[in-house]
Amino acid sequence: MTDFIPQIQPWIDHVELEELQKVIDSTYITEHEATREFEAIFRDFTGAKNVVAYSNGTTALIGALLALELKPGDEVIVPNLTFVATLNSVILAGGTPVLADIAPDSWHIDPAQIKAKITPRTRGIIPVHLYGSAANLDEIMAIAKEHNLFVLEDAAQAVGVHYSGRHVGTFGNIGMLSFYANKTMTTAEGGILLTNDDALAARLYQIKNHGRSQKGVFIHETIGYNFSFSDLHAAIGLAQLKKLSRILERKSEIYKRYEQGLSGIPQLTFCPTPQEVTLVPWFSNVHVPDAEALGQHLETQNIGSRRFFYPLHMQPCYQGRFGTDADYPCALKAFQTGLSLPSAVGLTNEQQDYVIQTIRTFFA
Ligand SMILES: Cc1ncc(COP(=O)(O)O)c(C=O)c1O
Repeated sequence: MTDFIPQIQPWIDHVELEELQKVIDSTYITEHEATREFEAIFRDFTGAKNVVAYSNGTTALIGALLALELKPGDEVIVPNLTFVATLNSVILAGGTPVLADIAPDSWHIDPAQIKAKITPRTRGIIPVHLYGSAANLDEIMAIAKEHNLFVLEDAAQAVGVHYSGRHVGTFGNIGMLSFYANKTMTTAEGGILLTNDDALAARLYQIKNHGRSQKGVFIHETIGYNFSFSDLHAAIGLAQLKKLSRILERKSEIYKRYEQGLSGIPQLTFCPTPQEVTLVPWFSNVHVPDAEALGQHLETQNIGSRRFFYPLHMQPCYQGRFGTDADYPCALKAFQTGLSLPSAVGLTNEQQDYVIQTIRTFFA
């Protein structure tokens, strides 16, 4: 049988080692020039006016909510289908999360559900751009404007994704990108916040830097955390940036090869891409009647795959807090039917053909 084919794997080699060596030689291993360089490249790449690096995407979301001055009792609307950190961050920042279902035939928060969940206590919305696609930003931004709500875009999985020609994460008050090891590009752990608002950017910096606006001094204007990045992580990021155009290209190639290779299987579909979205298929996903059964079959053939995110209302840590299955039919259906196929940049065409053939045999 073939060697195990991982569902995802970072592309790490001598290029990262060389950048790491430079930082080690400099002796500045904490946040310093490599971090500033990394942030500057992301300013150009995304078009955001300000970019602030954080230790990871989760601390970045918490820092963003604190900078937006979330207060106890403030409600923040979050999609039910996302990684748990989106929801946790609201609680950890002292707010009250409110779950909204995703839209039918989508992985993204349903604008109609957002409207239905707005109360006098609602302060903001966290749309999540899932799997390298994008939420309906036109409608979400219009709702936010009408109700005077902040928008914090969770673009953890959406490096390189554009909506109407603009990088996601630059539409709301703040946007977050994650560089966890399985993400489109990685710094091992790491995240950045994007904002066009200078005052917010200054607060984001203070919050991650013990409440001071400058490193190296012992005067602290506010009470802050240590959510800093490091130049070791930045070094890995700078190496990854050299590979980014190839990574983005390869992600799309893999997705297109799946679309072609799996066409004509009546039980298998791909999620439609809205016309505004320039997809970067971080994970290549399919929908099938029983995702668990297909995933288990692939495993017996040495092929890694992953189920979709477990709907948040079903999480053991949130049992009973956010209602029942009947409240979230679309998130539940996406979870039951969604499967992420091998999507690593290093996946060879031969390996992918084997995955495709194995799926075809399963449905034959
Ligand atoms: C949608 C989403 N939000 C938040 C996070 C948290 O990011 P991090 O792992 O960098 O803390 C992740 C990923 O890991 C994610 O996928």
